Amino acid sequence: MAEKKKMSVAEILAAARKADGGGGGSAPGPEAAAEPEAATPVAPVEEVAEEAAPAAPATKAPAPKLAPGQRPSVADILALARANKLTEAPKPAEAKAKPQPKAEAKPAAKPAAAGKAAPKEKAPAARLDTTSILAAARGGHKPGPVSKADAPQKTDKAKPAPAAKLTVPPAPTKPEYAVPKAGKAAGTGKKSEPEPRRAFMFLSVLFGTWMATGFTMLATIGGIWTLALARFMFPNMLTEPPSKFKVGFPDEFPPGQVSEKFKAQFGVWVVNFEYKGQSEIFALASVCTHLGCTPNWLESEQKFKCPCHGSGFYKDGVNFEGPAPRPLERYAIRMSEDGQLEIDKSRKFQEELGQWEDASSFVNT
Ligand code: FES
Repeated sequence: MAEKKKMSVAEILAAARKADGGGGGSAPGPEAAAEPEAATPVAPVEEVAEEAAPAAPATKAPAPKLAPGQRPSVADILALARANKLTEAPKPAEAKAKPQPKAEAKPAAKPAAAGKAAPKEKAPAARLDTTSILAAARGGHKPGPVSKADAPQKTDKAKPAPAAKLTVPPAPTKPEYAVPKAGKAAGTGKKSEPEPRRAFMFLSVLFGTWMATGFTMLATIGGIWTLALARFMFPNMLTEPPSKFKVGFPDEFPPGQVSEKFKAQFGVWVVNFEYKGQSEIFALASVCTHLGCTPNWLESEQKFKCPCHGSGFYKDGVNFEGPAPRPLERYAIRMSEDGQLEIDKSRKFQEELGQWEDASSFVNT
């Protein structure tokens, strides 16, 4: 800091005398007597002021009033100098009294930190020290680090005001169908899903995506093809009776008798009768030669009668009534190695063609 050049009293007096025109204005009396004192080292004005400060009241010393155009005397200049010194004197006084404002600032800061009303109190204070400013700032929005003594008080006041309670209307009651029913998972504490929802979730997973749909269709088509292949491997089979079969020994067929024992299974009558004066055993097909119906043997009438159109056949198979155009047909018959009669349906013999003369169409008795 650049030090101001402080004027000593002697210099001030010299300057006053200079301004006074060489001291012609007023009697030098007391000032002249003061000159020898100027030779001696004189304390600076500030020191004089400091010494005078404790004795003088804190209020400013009244400045001498001068009439306009009146030249100030040395005494007036001294008084003015002292008055100016007094006005400047508070600077060192404040510097020396720094600890005191701290003590005074605390009570000043408390009302500032007491609440949001602190900014209002700032206005009348012309000058605020740093403590007051910090206290006001902390009492506002951002409470910074505080001393231990102030912490509880400030933290309590920094709590936000409780929010007003919201009045929420009660929720409407669920209808009966919306209330989930207690299922198997009721004991486990898990909510059981209703069956329709499970089915919906299953269908959603099954058909929810294109890939799932594709795989499902592929599996379905594969299953159908597997079933078709299995059906192809086991086709429908007609268990027809064999074309050759044995009907028993010849004495089981007495003369003049028509056996219907093999009609139902093989469609054959075994007859022991005469044909053209010769007794023989032959096998007649139970198929009407009109349109293929199955005639019946009428024991009482000793004839074959077709129920479809009324064709009638004698016991030897020759047609005699109805629309049948020709006699019944014979199957091949022979005596097998074991002595039984064997019939072969793969060979037929027709009377109108003269085939009944064939030895394969009968067995002599
Ligand atoms: Fe036997 Fe017509 S089918 S009479």
